[in-house]
Amino acid sequence: MIVVTAGRPQKPDETRLDLVVDNAKIISNIMKEIKNSGFGGIVIIASNPVDVLTFVAQKVSGFATNRIFGSGTILDSSRLMFALGEHFKISPTSVTAYIADEHGDSSVALYSKAIVGAENLMTLKKNQLINDETLKSIHKLVIQKAYEIIKLKKATHYGIGVCLARIVKAVLNDEQVILPVGVYLNGEYHQKDIYTGIPAVIGSNGIERVVQLDISEQEQFNGRIKFC
Ligand code: LAC
Repeated sequence: MIVVTAGRPQKPDETRLDLVVDNAKIISNIMKEIKNSGFGGIVIIASNPVDVLTFVAQKVSGFATNRIFGSGTILDSSRLMFALGEHFKISPTSVTAYIADEHGDSSVALYSKAIVGAENLMTLKKNQLINDETLKSIHKLVIQKAYEIIKLKKATHYGIGVCLARIVKAVLNDEQVILPVGVYLNGEYHQKDIYTGIPAVIGSNGIERVVQLDISEQEQFNGRIKFC
């Protein structure tokens, strides 16, 4: 497996998308070398802006879309599960919640599918244990997290490092586990020829299957992904 993390760092006043021109060149050069080496394994892209750069990497290499994918929204989702755990005073390991679509600023929190312990988040909302305002501010906090870390210590390493190790382990052990990574969509969620963050089954073939969630109407209109 190859994990590509190369790229110039994001400055405090930049968004991930501001890195696209510089980092697309770096990724293209790396992918040409990987292709020319005859490499036949799995490639994970983590360089930012990760969804665009995974697309570039696939086009340059021509690798099958199941064996080249991005870190997607795995880190955003981990940050979300941590924040929901803090709110409900429940370990984040007992929370299942996904952030989908673009890694970062325009991500979508799939709250309608979140489970806290054994309870549906929407039931907890109905029982007034959380409200829309708090859910919005939790999502905002998740989006701001990388900016906060970059302001304090210039770059983010450890969170994404742990996430990448998790994905690599899932592939090497053929875990068939569901993780929200940067997958190639070929008609799913009414999207074609695009990489974006969506939960997928991960195993020894890389992306084994893209999970098709029946997300709520509000989630469709907040983001670009649409109900299937
Ligand atoms: C972050 C980087 C990996 O969110 O984009 O920490």
